[in-house]
Amino acid sequence: MSGHIPTLILTGASGGIGRAIAEEYAKHDWRLFLQGFRHIDDLRALCEELSSRYGVTATALRADLSDPDAVNGMFSTILREEPSQDVLINCAGIAWFGLVQNMTDADYSRVMETNFGSVFRCCRAILPSMLHRHSGCILNISSMWGSAGSSTEAVYSASKGAIDAFTRALGKELAPSGIRVNAIACGVIDTPMNDILSDNDKAALADDIPLGRFGRPEEIARTAYFLTGPDSSYITGQIIRADGAYL
Ligand SMILES: NC(=O)c1ccc[n+]([C@@H]2O[C@H](COP(=O)([O-])OP(=O)(O)OC[C@H]3O[C@@H](n4cnc5c(N)ncnc54)[C@H](OP(=O)(O)O)[C@@H]3O)[C@@H](O)[C@H]2O)c1
Repeated sequence: MSGHIPTLILTGASGGIGRAIAEEYAKHDWRLFLQGFRHIDDLRALCEELSSRYGVTATALRADLSDPDAVNGMFSTILREEPSQDVLINCAGIAWFGLVQNMTDADYSRVMETNFGSVFRCCRAILPSMLHRHSGCILNISSMWGSAGSSTEAVYSASKGAIDAFTRALGKELAPSGIRVNAIACGVIDTPMNDILSDNDKAALADDIPLGRFGRPEEIARTAYFLTGPDSSYITGQIIRADGAYL
């Protein structure tokens, strides 16, 4: 469409996968609304870097997405500036390792609200704008553990399983309205989320992956771009696994 600069709202843009996604869309000249939380200064620096390298406009927004009011506030700000949004990518998430009997209610709520509550609320906030135009794409960043389940990550797995079910259901609900919804179920991707692992643990884990290595954030970013673009126009309600055949 000539003259139209497509827009992306990306949560978790200050993280490893999010940064790579932001850069992929910047390369294609998108208008970027990028959310971060604790690493907001890094995110501001990323916005400046993308603006100077690719000539795009990128706005950094700080929000704790486990807080419903913060989600609503962020979307009010974005939609006031640009009411017409093309793509929402929900990438923010946190891990929690440990045994279920040791997990507090506060830990449980933090994982579920950050990983799944935020996806629900971000989708709900963007939908009026997409429904109005009868177009748009939503992509949720899930995990292979959402379908397989991971020992010592039971609630994390449950939060990603919720994203998978939500994606399938919302894909059906919104297809008649011209809006597509998909998810990428990531395997082990080389980002700060896995910094908890020692070098030896990382090497052993890579040995267990048939492709012989962790995934790269750029590989997820290119899959994300495909799943929100015209080349995937008949794909909706799907969970696309990118795990190097680990499962
Ligand atoms: N890396 C993997 O192996 C892997 C595997 C499967 C799925 N995933 C999924 O991929 C997504 C991105 O992960 P990553 O590997 O890029 O991890 P990461 O580098 O740790 O980034 C996590 C992102 O989530 C944001 N975030 C965390 N808590 C938040 C909160 N309460 N409110 C708002 N934002 C919050 C972080 O923002 P701040 O840092 O600014 O607070 C950061 O941008 C996550 O959903 C994760 O579950 C990752």
